[in-house]
Amino acid sequence: MKAKRIGVVMGGTSAEREVSLRSGRAVARALELAGHDIVRLELGAQIHALKMLSEARVDVAFLALHGRLGEDGCVQGLLELLGIAYTGSSVLASALAMDKLKAKELFRLHNVPTPPYYLFEGEPTRDAIIDCHASFGFPAMVKPRREGSSIGLQRADDTEQLISAVRIAQSHDASVLVERFITGREITVGILNGKTLGALEVAPRDGIFDYHAKYQSNQTEYFIPPRLPEALCGGVLQYAEHAARALNVSGAVRVDLIVSEGHNEYVLEVNTLPGMTPTSLLPKIAQAAGYSFTDLCEAIVDSATLHVSQPRAVKEAAVVSLAAPPAERLTATG
Ligand SMILES: Nc1ncnc2c1ncn2[C@@H]1O[C@H](COP(=O)(O)OP(=O)(O)O)[C@@H](O)[C@H]1O
Ligand SMILES: [Mg+2]
Repeated sequence: MKAKRIGVVMGGTSAEREVSLRSGRAVARALELAGHDIVRLELGAQIHALKMLSEARVDVAFLALHGRLGEDGCVQGLLELLGIAYTGSSVLASALAMDKLKAKELFRLHNVPTPPYYLFEGEPTRDAIIDCHASFGFPAMVKPRREGSSIGLQRADDTEQLISAVRIAQSHDASVLVERFITGREITVGILNGKTLGALEVAPRDGIFDYHAKYQSNQTEYFIPPRLPEALCGGVLQYAEHAARALNVSGAVRVDLIVSEGHNEYVLEVNTLPGMTPTSLLPKIAQAAGYSFTDLCEAIVDSATLHVSQPRAVKEAAVVSLAAPPAERLTATG
């Protein structure tokens, strides 16, 4: 493979900054060892992102950002303006996937099963929360609409827990999603350029794959393939692929699902810039599919592109006939 000058973009200002730095450093090291010219681009509150990205003079931007202002289309928009090919999804697909409400609306439109939900916005008074919840029932899962890494997410088993969970979630995003809690097996599916790489079952000790279980605990167990009947596993892969297509995502993505005890599949979300440390879930799935961590990074670099579409090239003859003004045509024939 021809060596490229690659800017690995990491850090940022989201709550997932630390995870992003870990992803970025791991990717940069792997690509450097593979012979590429690597520029580490660490975005942050005091950094002028446009200046940093434009002055780096890179062929490709490898996005190792997670969360708001990184995974949600904002940096992707800057790169479109600068004409620098980038990894991951387009501005629109990134924004849709980051917004759990919009993603769920599209899943429903495309017949991708997702847990029932409602949205809570506005003053989190006791009465407002109880009124809005009405007969929705318990247990419920309460999450900020636009956050990742399980930040601000809580399970609520009764009204008191619901009120507290809504207020916690609102400290991350004024817009909060309350979902039916699904008891079952948690599965995540890796997809590379539209094709599924495989599925992995996550079995956190305390049931919920929270921030601690994701990054700080060694008590979570992983199973490849998931402990599910083979036919059911095939269905999970298909739903993951449909979910990815519904949002029109590209490159390497990870789709999170839960398979209920009654064997119904529910898609939770699509991650457009999944964690990329060597022990993250996507690299684990890729490894079982025969890709080393470096192979995966290289495949992601190869998928980098600009997404803003160009007009379709029109045949020259058609342009000429359309361009001829009617009056001239009259003169010519008259
Ligand atoms: N409706 C639900 N029922 C049961 N568990 C859930 C539900 N929604 C989320 N979870 C748990 O919370 C974790 C994080 O939720 P997810 O929607 O994937 O958001 P994030 O963007 O924070 O990863 C999941 O991996 C799962 O363990
Ligand atoms: Mg998730």
